[in-house]
Amino acid sequence: MQDKIKQLISEVDNYVASTKDQLEAFRLKYLSKKGVLTDLFSEMKNIPVEHRKDFGLLVNELKTKAEEKFQLAMTGLESVSDSGGHSDLDLSLPAEPYVLGSRHPISITRNRILSIFGRIGFTVAQGPEIEDDWHNFTALNFPENHPARDMQDTFFIEQREGTDSIALRTHTSSIQVRVMETTKPPIRILAPGRVYRNEAISARAHCFFHQVEGLYIDEGVSFADMKQTLLYFSREMFGAETKIRLRPSYFPFTEPSAEMDVTCSICKGKGCNVCKYTGWLEILGCGMVDPNVLTNCGIDAEKYTGFAFGMGIERIAMLRHDVKDLRLFSENDVRFLKQFSGE
Ligand code: DAH
Repeated sequence: MQDKIKQLISEVDNYVASTKDQLEAFRLKYLSKKGVLTDLFSEMKNIPVEHRKDFGLLVNELKTKAEEKFQLAMTGLESVSDSGGHSDLDLSLPAEPYVLGSRHPISITRNRILSIFGRIGFTVAQGPEIEDDWHNFTALNFPENHPARDMQDTFFIEQREGTDSIALRTHTSSIQVRVMETTKPPIRILAPGRVYRNEAISARAHCFFHQVEGLYIDEGVSFADMKQTLLYFSREMFGAETKIRLRPSYFPFTEPSAEMDVTCSICKGKGCNVCKYTGWLEILGCGMVDPNVLTNCGIDAEKYTGFAFGMGIERIAMLRHDVKDLRLFSENDVRFLKQFSGE
């Protein structure tokens, strides 16, 4: 009996139906009420108990195979008849090529920045995008009425009576605070991340973008160290001929503060429409960490000094690749993104 079922199984395995009539005959033979399977199932009760389990397994195998074969043949025959008797399945055609994605230009630029600073000992730090007032503003020495706290600049999430307000971080400087609060100097970190500002979206501004913050705290760190570090970075990023210049500026968390320009890598300083014929491009803000900030974060301001800097990743990417519209970075247009696949 078992041999008979095994033979049926192999028959089913080898069965090929080329017409619907043949397939119907197959269905009647195996799967219909008067078919082989019904007979076999009713036979079950006559099988000695000790063989019943094996018998059952084999009958079930036959049933599954017959059903699968029927379904498969049915689908095959239908697709042939849909195409007027000719299958549109041409197995000799080359396969569809896989479309490979490419790294996003913001990731490429961020990784370059991290790798350049990594070579001189900066490690990567991270912090939350939803931040409290202390880490985003107060610890960074923002006076209570500083315009950066205005609703225009900041997306506030909630302000409960008597508690710190919560907002989307407006800059990655908040990560400096978190690192200084938990780490003993020497500190040498780079903190990349997404930041949010309540701004109207245009070619030059967006409500979210990316920054990298740098921080170096140790005994005897000077403004000259900062200049040298940033010169090294600029040459690695924009080419060995690049020059830098520092212009005095103001940030609440650094004193003195500066903005740094690099010679335009497109016209090499001669003047073009990217640098607005000045020969210089502004790329970052920097300065010596204000002693108040060190104290706020529990670092001895008598013993330690340090510098910090912050730059926009989109801005660097736009300058390196001559991209004119900031919105392109967040629109996910493959035609734009795939241009960077060779980077
Ligand atoms: N946080 C500043 C901004 O978002 C950028 C910045 C400027 C960071 C000077 C710094 C710095 O660490 O020293 O505009």
